[in-house]
Amino acid sequence: MNSLILKHPSLLTKEEALTGSGNVSWSIYGKYIKSGKVTLFVIYAVLLLIYQGASQFAAILITYWATDKFGWTSSKTASLITPPLQYLIDKQQQEFGDYQFVKLKTVQCFMELNQKEFPFPYSEKYYYVYAGVCVGMVLAFLLKMVSFFKFNISAAQRLYMNQLKAVVRTKLSFFDTTPQGRIINRLVKDTESVDFAFGRFLLMTLLQASMILGMVVTICVLNWPCVFVIVPSVVIYVVLFSKFRSVTPQLKRLESKTRSDVFSLCQEVMDQLISIRAYQVEDSFRKQFRSSALTNLNVQLYANSSGKWVSFRMTQLGAVMAFLIIFIAMIIAPFSPTLSQYAALIVVYGYSIQQLMVAVILAFTNAEQEVPAIERMLEFAQLENESDLNNSLISKSIVTKKENIGLDIENLVMRYRPELKPALRGVNVHINPKEHVAIVGRTGSGKSSLAITLFKLYQPETGAIQLNEELVSHLPLYDSRRKIAIIPQEPYLFSGTLRQQFCEFTRNKAEGLPTEGLERIPDQKLWELLETVQLSDYIKQQPGGLDCLVIGNGENFSSGQRQLVCVVRALLRDAEVVILDEATAYVDHETDQIIQKIVKEQLKNQIVLSIAHRLDTVLGMDKVLVMDQGLVAEFGSKEELMQIENGIFRELAMKANLLIE
Ligand SMILES: Nc1ncnc2c1ncn2[C@@H]1O[C@H](COP(=O)(O)OP(=O)(O)OP(=O)(O)O)[C@@H](O)[C@H]1O
Ligand SMILES: [Mg+2]
Repeated sequence: MNSLILKHPSLLTKEEALTGSGNVSWSIYGKYIKSGKVTLFVIYAVLLLIYQGASQFAAILITYWATDKFGWTSSKTASLITPPLQYLIDKQQQEFGDYQFVKLKTVQCFMELNQKEFPFPYSEKYYYVYAGVCVGMVLAFLLKMVSFFKFNISAAQRLYMNQLKAVVRTKLSFFDTTPQGRIINRLVKDTESVDFAFGRFLLMTLLQASMILGMVVTICVLNWPCVFVIVPSVVIYVVLFSKFRSVTPQLKRLESKTRSDVFSLCQEVMDQLISIRAYQVEDSFRKQFRSSALTNLNVQLYANSSGKWVSFRMTQLGAVMAFLIIFIAMIIAPFSPTLSQYAALIVVYGYSIQQLMVAVILAFTNAEQEVPAIERMLEFAQLENESDLNNSLISKSIVTKKENIGLDIENLVMRYRPELKPALRGVNVHINPKEHVAIVGRTGSGKSSLAITLFKLYQPETGAIQLNEELVSHLPLYDSRRKIAIIPQEPYLFSGTLRQQFCEFTRNKAEGLPTEGLERIPDQKLWELLETVQLSDYIKQQPGGLDCLVIGNGENFSSGQRQLVCVVRALLRDAEVVILDEATAYVDHETDQIIQKIVKEQLKNQIVLSIAHRLDTVLGMDKVLVMDQGLVAEFGSKEELMQIENGIFRELAMKANLLIE
């Protein structure tokens, strides 16, 4: 075990830091209850108590019945008692003590001898009361089950939705630092744990614990010396269990963490299958997989056997406890006529309690093993929302210039994560309305970082971005994002239909989202734009035309076609700024030319920022922005930049044999 922990110290520390360590905190149970419909849980608890009370009463009622505690049978018997019989009863009572009991037994014996002449005397009242209690028990049982399952579903749903919303809305740096396998594991396995395992084990624990409570109370009331056995036994159970309790959640955390590693590796292999085969590194991955899977299986073995360990010890302790309870009952019974009536009940309970004790501890242990899943779900639900990060920026006061100025970026600083150096170190640039600017620079100079900061995919640390009249850096996140469109380097299509890529109305309608304020884009407009990007012929041939199927990530389209669909999407967006991350790797020269032409003609009234990987792109642009180490190194028309001695652009242009007069 230790070796296992030491083998991956950093990872485990990180996972523990994320989820807490050691014993499961009781507060998690409180949070779980608060996540669901609390009223249902309260109803369940009340019904549980009613059910237990009724079931204890039913057990005692049998004894009352046998001894005719309430005299219901005696009242019927009374009419049968003749003077000689009364004499017999009195004599026996002098010998044995309990009048009602002796009377009943004597009458019963007497009648058995004369069965043919006398009807057997009994009172229906016992039947009615017993039947009433049983019906009550069944109803309480059913209702309590329904209320618990409804409560559990409500809690699991809320935990899952909170977790999912938080993950979807969190900042991008979270995905940079969290392996995908861990996210999938938590969204799938942890949710399943709360849905099924945790609820089931908690239900078992509460039911069995209430049964034990009922039995202990009954035993203690009927035979109080048993308190001297029960109290110390419970203390020993609690001590043993608390020791065990500090280990099991840790094992479960470790199990989850090692499973995340297996998931992550699977994900990596699936994503990189082509490279793995091409480089023939299958053996290496096979080895890694075997090692991760074995580690996970080892932990699973520990987790499963820990239950057996505790069950063995608890059974031994339970056997001793049952023996002592029964022993005390046997010793005392001859001296106490009352106790002798309940001796059978005490013996049965004494034996059942030890079995129940083991069962409740195992059920509770199993429930506790699932609690880290709730911890993790709660922890994911608290992930920082990216728009909250943006809100802190909104509150900072900044002087705005109220005029149609184009795009003005002032002292923009952005870092991907707090511990990293800034990727943008204070970008200052002013772009006039309708200007088309090519962004160039060596690899890693900050071109893409600038584009994604404009989109606020990563929040700027300081600085301001003003677009025409509005300070977009200080607008709510989704309002500012609407003002900018992007044609990304890696084109992405949503799964659904082609029309849904373009038309928000259709997309929202298909997904059951609100459509207020949205309108369906007419077919004619879509066909015109598809014609512009020279994609209409291909789409016409597809089954369904504009409603043809797009599978996940647009895998049924070629990269170039996907890029063109993204162009149409950007044109339809009617954004004030269009960012173009040139996709030299994905499109052929001809498609590239089409895109350049569309940008020039269709986006002539918008600001266009084009990250130029191929330098000949800059020829069609008004200005060139050269990035270097997160700063604007040069900015101006290409002719101006060519004049700068030892300038970066001049050097790049010379290397690319670009002819600029
Ligand atoms: N997700 C990220 N997390 C941390 N650092 C990053 C991340 N993306 C980029 N960086 C860093 O930020 C710096 C700027 O990267 P950026 O992607 O903006 O360069 P680029 O100019 O677009 O380069 P290229 O021409 O290769 O696309 C680099 O040092 C890079 O290592
Ligand atoms: Mg880039």
